[in-house]
Amino acid sequence: MKLFAHRGYSGKYPENTLPAFRAAAELAVDGVEFDVHLTKDGEAVVIHDEKLHRTTTGKGFVKDHTLAELKTLDAGSWFSEEWAGTEIPTLAEVLDVFRDTHHTLNIELKTDVFPYDGLLEEVIRLVAQAELSERVILSSFNHEDIAWATRNTSLTSALLTSQVLVNAYDYGRGVGTTRLHVSLPAAFRSMTSEAMRKGSVVYVYTVNDGQYLDGLKQVGVHGIFTDYPEKMQALLAEQAE
Ligand code: G3P
Ligand code: MG
Repeated sequence: MKLFAHRGYSGKYPENTLPAFRAAAELAVDGVEFDVHLTKDGEAVVIHDEKLHRTTTGKGFVKDHTLAELKTLDAGSWFSEEWAGTEIPTLAEVLDVFRDTHHTLNIELKTDVFPYDGLLEEVIRLVAQAELSERVILSSFNHEDIAWATRNTSLTSALLTSQVLVNAYDYGRGVGTTRLHVSLPAAFRSMTSEAMRKGSVVYVYTVNDGQYLDGLKQVGVHGIFTDYPEKMQALLAEQAE
């Protein structure tokens, strides 16, 4: 079962910041997941929410601020004073952390609330520039963007869903991918086992409690996203003994 650090090593460091990514880059996990939005001046930045207030000292929406404005915000002190002064990273800065590692990078396009015209193209441009196309999985709850990516790029793409779908495999094929990233509850529904039987690759978010690992193994899912990669790695190793 592949292990992905969710929003970087977000259980121990402020999510979606360079300290969280540098820590994940040191781990022998398979990959890292993070979320991208577009600034007012067209830059791709890594942060989870559309709004700034939960994880930064800012207010309002990411999309209404320039990169220079966002760079003045503190994205670390909400998590711990130890990380006061940590900035919102650009996508380019995050890609740079993983330039020479083995990790697969799951870039989640947060285009499901605001469409962020131009973000998908900017992500593709930056990934190509960093020569990381072979190690990227694009995912989104916005399936129109995933359909576009499967038609117009050779990047690996995945459908994100928190819904229990009927014929998820066929739906995915219609969009252009057999890869499904499903929520933890949906992982245990027949939709997931049926999709896998037909050929889907399924990753599950967000698995932070070890009690689910046995069941997920029985279902046979291919990967999980977790905020606690070291803990999950240890539990999986224990089970394998
Ligand atoms: O990509 C998996 C997971 O991150 C999707 O949900 O809200 O944590 O971005 P969210
Ligand atoms: Mg995400």
